[in-house]
Amino acid sequence: MNAALFFGGAPEASASAPGRVNLLGEHTDHNDGYMLPVATPQRTEVALSLSHDGHFHFYSATLDSHVTFAHDSSAPPGFGSYIEGCIRLVQARGVAVPPLRVFCQTNLAVGSGLSSSAALEIATLRALRNLLGFDFDDVLLAQIAQRAEIEFAHVNCGIMDQMASSLADPDTMLFIDARTLEHRLVPLPAGTTLIVIDTGVARKLAASKYNERRSECQEAARLLGVKALRDVTDMAAVEALPEPMRRRARHVVSDDLRVLEAIEGIDGARFGELMNLCHYSLRDDYEVSIPELDALAQALRDQEGVLGARMTGAGFGGACVALCRTEYAEQAAAAALARYDSRAGNGPRGRLLIPVPHEGKENDESI
Ligand code: GLA
Repeated sequence: MNAALFFGGAPEASASAPGRVNLLGEHTDHNDGYMLPVATPQRTEVALSLSHDGHFHFYSATLDSHVTFAHDSSAPPGFGSYIEGCIRLVQARGVAVPPLRVFCQTNLAVGSGLSSSAALEIATLRALRNLLGFDFDDVLLAQIAQRAEIEFAHVNCGIMDQMASSLADPDTMLFIDARTLEHRLVPLPAGTTLIVIDTGVARKLAASKYNERRSECQEAARLLGVKALRDVTDMAAVEALPEPMRRRARHVVSDDLRVLEAIEGIDGARFGELMNLCHYSLRDDYEVSIPELDALAQALRDQEGVLGARMTGAGFGGACVALCRTEYAEQAAAAALARYDSRAGNGPRGRLLIPVPHEGKENDESI
């Protein structure tokens, strides 16, 4: 069903928001640290109109799934939880939100670790802001979206994905300080382009391992006597921690330092090196990589023009990102994908996400 059919005409308000690809600073947000994502060119679109039957009606064209519930009850688990969470949290801030018809669709790869959930939340909040005229700023939208994800979708996330979806763009990095929410745009190294390829591996263990790592980081901070790992200055004390806290903390502290170095305006070669180091640290110290992510990152690194590559997002599946000299990007992406797909057996196959494949652009349907 398209939007015109769902609304029986034009919607009263609409908005869109991107996903994110993180370049440096992974698993640092829940340690009050620093990160450096960009937005995806792919976006999620949400359109709204008032509902006149006392019920909320949500329709995802991407999933071809319809959810209906009375205004005083709640959405069943699934994509509706993200939308309902945003609505309820806006209501909790004193905005009267009437029953609505909500239509959403995305050209983001769902489940590739590019934060399609944050994109849905931010697009929903922007559409609500357009419809109802409240004046919440983009940082507050990110904070509400994060609460929606935690309280309604029961995902214990940090703030990076929602900040990136709300404030980043695809061509410039967004520096974020998770403690203060200070943020600013930082240019990509001159003459470089990003490549993003999905491993095709669904992120099964991600949620349970994410929470386990969070607890280990909290324990490391407690043992070090700091509020969060962002406050660590004494690396010798980190090295003296019991395992696995030593390695978890070493990843977080070193990745914060990589972000702080990267925003000083380093060249592409050094930036690429930092991305490689970030991957090795996530693989060996934080232990959230899997063989497919390692193989894909290496396939990318082996291509001419690629300056560095790493897994991006929470891990245990999802995508890799590489920084590439612009003139090599197209051929490097194709060759890395072919190399990854040529591994023995019937393993998962890769999928090029950025640069956006030509067919993807042609198939885009706007609301
Ligand atoms: C997920 C979470 C983010 C962040 C990343 C890891 O995407 O939603 O808050 O913690 O993992 O950097």
